[in-house]
Amino acid sequence: MDKLIIDGARKLQGEIRISGAKNAALPLIAATLLAPGWHIIHNVPDLRDTRTILALLETFGAEWKREGSTLLVKTDSLNNFEASYDLVKTMRASILVLGPLLARMGKAKVSLPGGCAIGARPIDFHLQGLKNMGASLDLEDGYVTASAQNHLTGGTIYFDVPSVTGTENILMAAVLAKGESVIKNAAREPEVTNLVDMLISMGARIEGRETDRLTIHGVKSLNPAEITTIPDRIETGTYLIAVGTAGGEATLTHCNPSHLPALIVKLRAAGLIIKESENSIFVSRPAKVQSIDIKTHPYPGFPTDLQAQLMALMSLSTGLSVITETIFENRFMHVAELKRMGAEIKINGNSAIVKGVNQLNGAQVMATDLRASASLGGAGLAAQGVTEISRIYHLDRENEDMVGKLQALGARVSKEKE
Ligand code: EPZ
Repeated sequence: MDKLIIDGARKLQGEIRISGAKNAALPLIAATLLAPGWHIIHNVPDLRDTRTILALLETFGAEWKREGSTLLVKTDSLNNFEASYDLVKTMRASILVLGPLLARMGKAKVSLPGGCAIGARPIDFHLQGLKNMGASLDLEDGYVTASAQNHLTGGTIYFDVPSVTGTENILMAAVLAKGESVIKNAAREPEVTNLVDMLISMGARIEGRETDRLTIHGVKSLNPAEITTIPDRIETGTYLIAVGTAGGEATLTHCNPSHLPALIVKLRAAGLIIKESENSIFVSRPAKVQSIDIKTHPYPGFPTDLQAQLMALMSLSTGLSVITETIFENRFMHVAELKRMGAEIKINGNSAIVKGVNQLNGAQVMATDLRASASLGGAGLAAQGVTEISRIYHLDRENEDMVGKLQALGARVSKEKE
């Protein structure tokens, strides 16, 4: 595994390009299972997770090739419908193949993803939705086997809380089902809308785009798609917050600021200067940041995937900040590591109370989940001295060319073998 070495206390300055969104590309790639022919997906980041889902599709008989950031995928001769534990255990989002495989092949066997570092993360909504569409489900030996004798039929599913991959999985199953399906309390994340747009371009009939009620009228077959992956709003947010934490100013290009409504309001309240245009954003930190409170919510609320990074920023604010996590029950693993760098944070249930300090100090810390790693990266950029972040494979998973982009912003950062 690699470790990241950051020689901190240096302001960031410059311009970087934001990549396509990992969490949008994964469902778009899974959706290629729905129709034969070459699908063309532009702006696909080259990350461990996108490589994993492609490896999974290969085990079903798919072919693919990459031309720069454009991915071409063909799923004409599917000859296997089993997603093995070996691949699913490395990436929870592998569950996204369940809906489309079942819709196309009438059968799918997918290893249960199990728990993960940020909480139990069940898939009961996914399974209930498929059941409501007439699928028979069998849970045995850590696998879920789903089958639909003739065809899936339209069904209604209500999510207790909006689920991103749950909405995506049910959408992909419903587009080829017989009759009408309705997803109530659907997730409205831009990644879901990107998938809706791809499915519509393939000939699917979906109403309620960008709303929490999606109605899908099943069609008999679909055509191959050509679609562009949306810019990564979490990568964008991570660099905006990093500039706030380390200081300086930067322009992020090829992004979509309208996908970050809650973050931009909060960062302005913290005193950052943010100038948005249609596909770029400028950020600068004129003075020490003010403390702000945040609570994570489904889109368009404050994203859980930016909570850890914001905590690093608040560690250097002028006062007291309360950060409440409402999506995942175990998403404060960065707290212990930030404290090693001098942050003052107390956890009270699902809230973290952060008292701003004047300075963070470099330390040896360990990356836990993906976003926690990004939080430590931000703290390391601001800290006096050298920070060594071990187990950084999580960061590689999410951030395309992270070291190169940080170096382009003037950071003294390098990757070394552990
Ligand atoms: C997606 O995960 C993202 N992953 C996550 O990003 C992100 O943190 C999360 O959405 C929230 O925005 C991908 O898109 C691949 P959920 P997902 O289902 O879909 C509960 C990252 O770092 N729930 O929207 O798995 C669940 O426990 C990752 O890139 C059920 O109870 O999250 C949670 O409390 C981490 N039953 C809430 O819903 C279910 O069947 C929302 O989770 C499904 C979910």
